[in-house]
Amino acid sequence: MEQELSLPQPQEVVAQELKQQKVYISKVKELLGQRYLRQPLAYVHTYGCQGNVADGEKLKGFLRDMGYGFASCKEEADLVLYNTCAVRENAEKKLFGKIGELKALKEQKPELLIVLCGCMMQEETVTEKIQKSYRQVDLILGTHVMHLFPQLLHQALCSKGLVVEAANRENVIAEGLPVQRESAFQASVQIMYGCNNFCSYCIVPYVRGREVSRQPQHILQEVTQLVQQGYKEILLLGQNVNSYGKGLEENITFAQLLRQIDAIPGDFWVRFMTSHPKDCTKELIDTIAQCPKVCRQVHLPVQSGNDRILKQMNRQYTRQQYLELIDYAKSTIPDVSFSSDIIVGFPGETYEEFLDTLSLVQQVGYQNLYTFIYSKRNGTKAAQMEDPVPEKEKARWVNQLIQAEYAVSDKLNLAYEGKTIRVLAENESSEQDGCLMGHNSQGVLVKFPAPKELLGQFVNITVTQGRRAVLYGEPAAPKTV
Ligand code: SAH
Ligand code: SF4
Ligand code: F3S
Repeated sequence: MEQELSLPQPQEVVAQELKQQKVYISKVKELLGQRYLRQPLAYVHTYGCQGNVADGEKLKGFLRDMGYGFASCKEEADLVLYNTCAVRENAEKKLFGKIGELKALKEQKPELLIVLCGCMMQEETVTEKIQKSYRQVDLILGTHVMHLFPQLLHQALCSKGLVVEAANRENVIAEGLPVQRESAFQASVQIMYGCNNFCSYCIVPYVRGREVSRQPQHILQEVTQLVQQGYKEILLLGQNVNSYGKGLEENITFAQLLRQIDAIPGDFWVRFMTSHPKDCTKELIDTIAQCPKVCRQVHLPVQSGNDRILKQMNRQYTRQQYLELIDYAKSTIPDVSFSSDIIVGFPGETYEEFLDTLSLVQQVGYQNLYTFIYSKRNGTKAAQMEDPVPEKEKARWVNQLIQAEYAVSDKLNLAYEGKTIRVLAENESSEQDGCLMGHNSQGVLVKFPAPKELLGQFVNITVTQGRRAVLYGEPAAPKTV
């Protein structure tokens, strides 16, 4: 009788691999101790989205645990790590320029280690090009094997040639990775990885693989701990948070997860991105309205306001369905603000079709808009489409869109004058000494005079001037009873 082979489950493999990483962390530490008479320094730079930034914090966590300190520039570093983004061609071109610059640095300092990871490293054409023409690189680490960083760095430290590990395995969830957070009061929490949507222009599903959700108890545990440590703002991350929960044993929607997070005791804010309009439910909008800790800001990328283009983009909603959602949110959450991503100049888009996007932007009244000129990504469906409109013309359309958006957001900001709003003090303002800056629940930038001691705290600010992209204000007088 044929015996069925029972292969270990992917999660078991990851658990085993994570155990091994502890051993490699010690091994690397020991090697570094022999190699340097002082603490070695790493320079880490992350490109791309918040999800990549969150990965960068984990890579830094590993580096810290392996004994590295952090340098503020590449010239001071013993290890340079670029965590790359593949979403637009320009970003890729720039990155190749950056890797090129490291050649001279490595010639001056032959023991310099160069590590590349992130989404670009999931593209075969990129890794091939690096192997052929950028021989200064020591380690290429794909996103699916990020949790093997100590093991692979150990290999790179022990070998002379380039180490490449960008295997296209399934997305796995590696819990409990070390993390070196950039801020003591704002934290990102990834709730899922990958994307299943295959919007026709987008490379993310190819480089990041299929969607997987983290177990809700792991997310709740992480947020609870962060709040206990004093974090004031939690950013929940996923390429399409609205499909959170699919494939999990437990029956749970993103709205339900949000409710459970809102119920965690403490004074903190919750934001999330990104919501895909096709999966954005009325349940989610009702949840935002009913959860006081959830910020009154919905980032709902529309990409285009024209039905033919939306169809070509494979976005799976129409202009009308999108506007209905916006109307429902406006009537359910009275103080809501919206933001969006827009692609201008999708292959075959006409000026008339672009004007539909322009009118939608005016109709919705976005507080913030992120506009991109279409960038061809090989391997995607849109890359096969005719794209006759010249880049210069597309740039003209984008400018027109930006001007229209200014008119909308200037008006929204002016309406803030005289109002008192709650703001998280996040940074010192670069504009003026003695001033801090932060955002309100709606995601608007606010600048105000206040002492540094207030960083990381919520403050009430009375807005004195509502300007383009920024509100200026004064700390509100304490209430007298
Ligand atoms: N998951 C998110 C977006 C992630 S990528 C969502 O679905 O909304 C961030 C933004 O980059 C996208 O919203 C889109 O506006 C832009 N983008 C993606 N691919 C692009 C391309 N090929 N050219 C130009 N912009 C692109
Ligand atoms: Fe790209 Fe679409 Fe996935 Fe967003 S939802 S990451 S735009 S494929
Ligand atoms: Fe870029 Fe990868 Fe994010 S391609 S936008 S860093 S998921």
